[in-house]
Amino acid sequence: MNAPTTIEWSERRFGPETAHWMPRNAETALDHIPGDDGIPVLGTTLAQLKDPVGFTNRMVAQHGKVYRAKSFGGRGVSLVGPEANELVLFDREKIFSSEQGWGPVLNLLFPRGLMLMDFEKHRADRKTLSVAFKPEPMRHYAGALNEGIGSRIGAWSGKSFKFYPAIKQLTLDLAATSFLGIPWGPEAERINKAFVDMVQASIGIIRVPMPFTAMGRGVAGRKFLVDYFTRLVPERRASEGEDIFTQICHAKDDDGEYLSVEAIVDHMNFLMMAAHDTITSSITSLVWLLARHPEWQDRLRDEMLAVAPAGEGVGHNSLGELELTEMAFKEALRLIPPVPAIPRRALRDFEFGGYHIPAGTNVGINPSYTHMMAEYWPDPERFDPPGAALRLYAGENLFPPCADDASHPDRRRLRARLAHVADPAPERRAHRHLRPALILLRRARCPTLR
Ligand code: HEM
Repeated sequence: MNAPTTIEWSERRFGPETAHWMPRNAETALDHIPGDDGIPVLGTTLAQLKDPVGFTNRMVAQHGKVYRAKSFGGRGVSLVGPEANELVLFDREKIFSSEQGWGPVLNLLFPRGLMLMDFEKHRADRKTLSVAFKPEPMRHYAGALNEGIGSRIGAWSGKSFKFYPAIKQLTLDLAATSFLGIPWGPEAERINKAFVDMVQASIGIIRVPMPFTAMGRGVAGRKFLVDYFTRLVPERRASEGEDIFTQICHAKDDDGEYLSVEAIVDHMNFLMMAAHDTITSSITSLVWLLARHPEWQDRLRDEMLAVAPAGEGVGHNSLGELELTEMAFKEALRLIPPVPAIPRRALRDFEFGGYHIPAGTNVGINPSYTHMMAEYWPDPERFDPPGAALRLYAGENLFPPCADDASHPDRRRLRARLAHVADPAPERRAHRHLRPALILLRRARCPTLR
């Protein structure tokens, strides 16, 4: 038998399923890109972790919007700005792998989650999972969420406490009911603990699962949750529950087949992570910004009371009426994005910003930098929901004018729609005018950011 003489780096770390990952390219392959290799061994990792925003600002100021750094074990190229975001996120040429971009960060904890899949497999699983996000189940989740949020906020009333730990606990508890269909209690506590350990591990500095490290606890947490979900799948397939887990257990692919138990387990683990951490972070940011801008607290409060009486909760069907709230939430996402940078791996050579970037390169885009670019946001630090929302909806940051506009049907349609926006002054009216344009932005990968 012919044994391979070398085992590729991805297989050694993440197992045979990653054998198709591209081999690392030689360090010299990126010599022609301006940048910085940082200090010996650690490269630019510490500088980047210590002050991510300052690091990017410095690198762009010194090297331009395409720069090389050496963080987290190897050289990579960052592409910053809206054109880069468009190139990578739309990925019309199918150049970029999300699996091989996120994999080195998440594969020990959340392998085969939707974001760690590419192309046809990604399309097929995303379609199968979409049943869990249809209006009827969404209405049910909204009801379950409203109930949980209402009773917790009642308990918070009149007390003073730290917001982040409290909302983190609440989102975990809500995940138990709406994601898993189990009541709050000791079972949910055990699941929450395993889950928090996994999330902590995903941002830990030590990337191997050694005892007493965050990664060690994360990998143990994963094992617990894999066993837990695996045991429950047959029971859920026989039940009619309306939680996400049960919906996914019932989901069938294009051939009418259920997803495999392993696939359900992997999707559930990933979905819980994708939903929990981002929501916890973004609600905290919004509440912090509202605390600093009490006039906006009043506006949002008035808007909510106009939609539903105090204490009743806003039903799924009325969510669309919370226009100012949506603007304020998106402005919080702009100022403090929960996913500040997005990694990919180039599967083929490509050109960007005048540089040739070879296949195999780790490529990163940087929404948090884009959200602060003075070219697009005249006063980028200012919390200005309607102003920012209009720009976002106008697509200026996703669809900057460019020479080959004509070849992009999305842009053409968007511009045609925007041509009808006559008077953007009264916020709410303008927002309604712009709504059709939003539909065109539905290509973002996150199913909830639509
Ligand atoms: C404010 C809250 C959220 C933010 C800021 C956010 C952000 C993102 C971003 C930036 C991505 C794309 C990453 C990439 O392309 O590499 C993503 C993907 C994803 N998110 Fe979210 N997310 C949020 C809430 C949620 C929630 C609540 C869920 C589930 C209920 C969710 C499920 C997912 C899934 C499944 C993906 C992968 C989609 C795919 O690859 O097809 N997210 N999210």
